[in-house]
Amino acid sequence: QLGNRLCRYKNYNFLSSYTTAEYIDSLQSFEIRDSDVFLVSYPKSGTIWAQQIITSIYELDGHVNEYLTNSQKMPWLEFTWGAYTRRPSPRLFTSHLPQVLMPPGLMDKKGKIVYLMRNPKDNMVSYYHFSNSLADLETPQSFAQFFEWYLTGNVPASSWFDHVREWYSNRDQYNILFLTYEEMILDLKGSVKKICNFLGINLTEAAISQVVEKAKFEKMKNDSKANYEHLPPEKFSGKFLRKGQIGDWKNTLTVAQSERVDQVPALQGLPVKILAVACC
Ligand code: PPS
Repeated sequence: QLGNRLCRYKNYNFLSSYTTAEYIDSLQSFEIRDSDVFLVSYPKSGTIWAQQIITSIYELDGHVNEYLTNSQKMPWLEFTWGAYTRRPSPRLFTSHLPQVLMPPGLMDKKGKIVYLMRNPKDNMVSYYHFSNSLADLETPQSFAQFFEWYLTGNVPASSWFDHVREWYSNRDQYNILFLTYEEMILDLKGSVKKICNFLGINLTEAAISQVVEKAKFEKMKNDSKANYEHLPPEKFSGKFLRKGQIGDWKNTLTVAQSERVDQVPALQGLPVKILAVACC
């Protein structure tokens, strides 16, 4: 149902207005630097939130220019937007790519990956609203219709379930930190510290508080560089910072839909920590 808005490469869906199959393929020879930092997530998992945290950390020493938008500071690797090889180290990237399509150089534990995930029920509600707001996405006729697209992976970035499972089951090959949207909600400061530790960056308590402050929902909602206000209304008519809550899916999913999510076979085999996220 996504028609020509989608391009498909190796069974994964991409938005054709943002990239091409040839470009995704070219990433197989993308050279990784030891200092590269990747934020990887399935869409609507809190990506721009983690972007805000990571870029704020690198703004503190002036490495990142605070006047740029988040997508300029930490661009999506798979979108054909820029001369990524010319970026100064440490290069910061965002990506929604599945594990199998990421540059293989990362598998030598070169570079660092922060993998962010969010429980699929809240995730799909967020994705549903996003699909109603972003002109590039097919507008579903109802949540019930979107629910079927989501469960079958018939959306850009394909299946949430495959995305999480493939990244998690191949984790030993990467220098990777798994972080959840839910733990960021419950303990933002602890999550910022976790990210700093992983990146090997020592911040003072005052600097940590500064990063935390900039990452608060209300702050980001009013930060035009973080909330993608620069997108013209004919392209995007909603809010990137919409509700920012855990468990809001209960206002949208029926009991039967919730049970169907719990029974998706790809959830089996995920470890308790991720299952807890998946089923919360
Ligand atoms: S995208 O388009 O894939 O980059 O979207 P993504 O940024 O991954 O996800 C958007 C959801 O993340 C929420 N968000 C936040 N929640 C809490 N606190 C902060 N600071 C924050 N920043 C972004 C955002 O509100 C979207 O979730 P929903 O449920 O739609 O509100």
